[in-house]
Amino acid sequence: MRPRGGGVLRADGVSLEALARRHGTPLFVYSARTVRERLDALRRAFRRREPLVCYAMKANPCRALAAVLAREGAGADIVSGGELARALRAGFDPRRTVFSGVGKTEAEMAAGLRAGLLAFNVESAEELDALARVSGRLGRVAPVSVRLNPDVNARTHPHITTGRAENKFGVETAEALRLYARAARDRRLRVVGVQCHIGSQITQAEPFRRAARALARVVARLQAQGIRLQHADIGGGLGITYKDERPLAPAALARALEETFAPWPEMRLLLEPGRYLVAEAGILLTRVLYRKKTAKRRFIVVDGAMTDLPRPALYGAWHPVEAVRTRPGPRRRADVVGPVCESGDFLARARLLPPLERGDLLAVGKAGAYGFAMSSQYNSRPRSAEVLVDGGRARLARRRETLKDLIAAER
Ligand code: LLP
Repeated sequence: MRPRGGGVLRADGVSLEALARRHGTPLFVYSARTVRERLDALRRAFRRREPLVCYAMKANPCRALAAVLAREGAGADIVSGGELARALRAGFDPRRTVFSGVGKTEAEMAAGLRAGLLAFNVESAEELDALARVSGRLGRVAPVSVRLNPDVNARTHPHITTGRAENKFGVETAEALRLYARAARDRRLRVVGVQCHIGSQITQAEPFRRAARALARVVARLQAQGIRLQHADIGGGLGITYKDERPLAPAALARALEETFAPWPEMRLLLEPGRYLVAEAGILLTRVLYRKKTAKRRFIVVDGAMTDLPRPALYGAWHPVEAVRTRPGPRRRADVVGPVCESGDFLARARLLPPLERGDLLAVGKAGAYGFAMSSQYNSRPRSAEVLVDGGRARLARRRETLKDLIAAER
């Protein structure tokens, strides 16, 4: 999203001020155009093969937004029965959908089998046994892809690194080979692929290259045993620029995959991007409630909080913050903080901001991924509304929660 225009921020031509007036704040605004552009960029990066892009629903499960990707022919990557239901509702083809996650329940497996998913990314021997049992019970054959832990350092934030040997995810190569041998003998299971996911917000090509090679070694070993895989799935993790990061270009990832899998031209290559597709498509609109100054600091208290966009509080993440209408005057350094009763409740720290007054609107950028998706009702705050802008028109994708919603499940 390029939220610019004549000194007043707009979203793809739509007035953010009008959206805030109409739907209230805090408000997430998404750009369908940006999502399409990102998907195109990713697909165009591949020269020799057409990858299957499976959108990681966890980044943003908003139906209207996900439906944009489904309509463009993307598949989905899901990690729960909830995401399965929402992926189907958004229009994703189950035959283009993979089921990841270290703790799938048998009920979730059954739902995935009934839907006819492309693959279950299996992460342990016990999970494989459970999957076989469930598919036997349903009279189905479960498509199996083992999640490999390639012990690669993705060199990203420790909370979002997943491909090291000490992480809970995936299995090491020797164990993966044992699982394939076991699956190949079982008529309730069908071996279809190999997968890994080494972390998120990765900015270098090298970890992907190493992970791809680790996957290829498994493909070769299996081939020697007469087991042929239909696909290799490198997972998600492509980083973006929040501040001054210089992430690898999708072309670098494409090259690593195409080169590594050149010996198997018939294999399909899968990706599971979340952030890359949607982060830059979203902003969080929030209104200034109060300004206050202490001996040490200047605070801008806004109506958005860590409950809406937890990334700064959780990971110390940096998101761009701009005034929707810039007032003339000197910029001052301030913390942008929310109303939640925790000192960790900030959206931005020590940021140079133009003069602001009560009621002014701020746009927190790159909030399309892991924003609303991770939002909560902590402090009994109803979750915000979401708006999708498409073709110069805005429509409400999810209404703001009400006080009634807060207690609807209570008995
Ligand atoms: N596939 C699997 C199996 C995953 O676990 C993830 C993300 C993805 C794909 C998508 O990764 P992406 O392309 O979005 O990097 N809440 C954190 C990010 C957690 C990522 C978890 N797994 C954040 O806000 O930075």
